[in-house]
Amino acid sequence: MKRALITGITGQDGAYLSQFLLSKGYEVHGIVRRSASADVINSRLVWIGVADKVHIHDGNLTDLASLIRIAQEVKPDEIYNLGAQSFVKSSWQQPYLTGLVTGLGATNMLEAARIVCPEARFYQASSSEMYGLIQERIQSETTPFYPRSPYAAAKLYAHWMTVNYRESFGMHASSGILFNHESPLRGIEFVTRKITDGVARIKLGMQKSISLGNLSAMRDWGHARDYVRAMWLMLQQDTADDYVIATGRTASVKEFCDLAFNHVGLVAQDHIVVDPRFMRPAEVDILHGNADKAKNKLGWSCETQLEQLVAEMVDADITRLKKREHL
Ligand code: NAP
Ligand code: GDD
Repeated sequence: MKRALITGITGQDGAYLSQFLLSKGYEVHGIVRRSASADVINSRLVWIGVADKVHIHDGNLTDLASLIRIAQEVKPDEIYNLGAQSFVKSSWQQPYLTGLVTGLGATNMLEAARIVCPEARFYQASSSEMYGLIQERIQSETTPFYPRSPYAAAKLYAHWMTVNYRESFGMHASSGILFNHESPLRGIEFVTRKITDGVARIKLGMQKSISLGNLSAMRDWGHARDYVRAMWLMLQQDTADDYVIATGRTASVKEFCDLAFNHVGLVAQDHIVVDPRFMRPAEVDILHGNADKAKNKLGWSCETQLEQLVAEMVDADITRLKKREHL
């Protein structure tokens, strides 16, 4: 039985990846940082039905000793570094913390692996946010990066450290440059979930409108369930490498709103309020990925269309609100 160690197991991707690896027969271990809200920290793992099937270890990406100890205990075959301060807007409010966790945290995990289990295969959660002020209309592995936020700069550092550990120490370390991926388990502050939760509340008569920032921003939105399969595929290859994972379709925030409102028979423009508080100091105007390399080398393609994703998220939020569940 293979053993996987996941940082960020309590997040959206951690939950889907745990479910996927368990279905493949893995023993799944996760690192969870101490929280005063310990009773709800595993709510995504509960929602997806794996909370009692994974092994949880108390640690933190900023605490190298804890990572070394956990690597010694688990002896993982595969390490998935998903842990991060992942909300771009907060990275301007907490630039140091974002650098520490999202950037140096990855180095800490690489270093723990190098010291304890250099044969373990390593996945780094890189991001399309690194393309920032895009240098090519459609972005692939060869497109130059131009980070536009403290988050993106931290991710870029972690990305290059992963390449560096691969080239310096011969470690099987791969980066997935994942474009935005969403699901019913997406954090409530991200725009897609904010919209689907808002649409559900409006449909149920619990609120009248949703306040949003830049409606023109365009993203290449996929489903997290499809994207965690790509992470695993990267670690099954003979050679480590970097891959773009994207749907190849881009849509605006406004178009996402239209799809979500249409799904419940409402009109978006009747309920959207533009609020400058949700604008950013610098914006990534458009992301549009080319995942041909992943298609050709990994045999990966995305299975969920944007319309299906939106419908699944809105329906899940309506169900949750009717049951008075919170996530
Ligand atoms: P998420 O839901 O925000 O989850 C982030 C995880 O990191 C949570 O489990 C969080 O724990 C954990 N974490 C935060 N600080 C930590 C620390 N100091 N030590 C250990 N763990 C810590 O993010 P996601 O959407 O699942 O994304 C997974 C990864 O992929 C992230 O690195 C993200 O930046 C990257 N990524 C995401 C996307 C996307 O569209 N979703 C695209 C590209 C890249 P708590 O539960 O305690 O907060
Ligand atoms: N969050 C949020 N809230 N975003 C809004 C809002 C709002 O009210 N109104 C408009 N937007 C716009 C943002 O300005 C941005 O252009 C776009 O919606 C998407 O914002 P988010 O959903 O917060 O995601 P992100 O693209 O900044 O970052 C996500 O994707 C990255 C990959 O490209 C995160 O998951 C990152 O961790 C990830 O790396």
